[in-house]
Amino acid sequence: MRTPIIAGNWKMNMNLENATKLVEKIKSEATKTDVEIVVCCPSIYISEIKKIVADSKVKIGAQNMHWADSGAFTGEISADMLNDIGVDYVILGHSERRQIFGETNEVVNKKIKKAIKKKIKPILCVGETLEEREEGRTHDVVKKQVESCLNGISAEDMLEIVIAYEPIWAIGTGKTASSKDANDVVSFIRGLIDKNYGEKVSDAVRIQYGGSVKPNNATEIMNEYDIDGALVGGASLDAESFLAIVNF
Ligand code: 13P
Repeated sequence: MRTPIIAGNWKMNMNLENATKLVEKIKSEATKTDVEIVVCCPSIYISEIKKIVADSKVKIGAQNMHWADSGAFTGEISADMLNDIGVDYVILGHSERRQIFGETNEVVNKKIKKAIKKKIKPILCVGETLEEREEGRTHDVVKKQVESCLNGISAEDMLEIVIAYEPIWAIGTGKTASSKDANDVVSFIRGLIDKNYGEKVSDAVRIQYGGSVKPNNATEIMNEYDIDGALVGGASLDAESFLAIVNF
């Protein structure tokens, strides 16, 4: 049985006061015990948020990380730095990092390898654009992303990785993939993992869906067989809506 994982990706939102209130509420009102809850807040707030959730089941994720150990990379944050402040997960290869900041599959692959080496669990994001979907290229695009980003990753390491299927056209648009379409791509990804790592690993790896997940569509999405949770953007900024998703 795979434990569902619901992660909130705050992106570049919130201030410290609101962040503190939000996380305190999540911590006290997340009642569902068989779901892993992760809050991916801006790195600058992780230390403070970590103090709040320290004695709870809520885990902390970062939204990005550099692949080098240290060096002349102005503005970047290393895996060791994230470990210093007690991060459990790191989102890697989010489409906003790919599209706005030019991250390639090769860069994401380096980051995944570093995160694994430093014992931070990666949440690897993949997903197609609207144009790619309309041209019928969804599977090809996702296959390329999954296989390139996981190049050189062992079966043992694969078990530490969460994959998030986030169709780009569904992010922040209010358009969700139908639960059937989402499950179709998620099953396809599980098939790729099966082909490359075998059934034991593909049965165990958790694959989330992300893209306009809201309280009113969360249950339907999460009920799909191959979908093991959600990566939530906008709805994770509001305690009530995030809790409604977490307690689905
Ligand atoms: P929205 O839930 O706001 O569509 O964002 C999804 C996302 O990008 C999560 O990483």
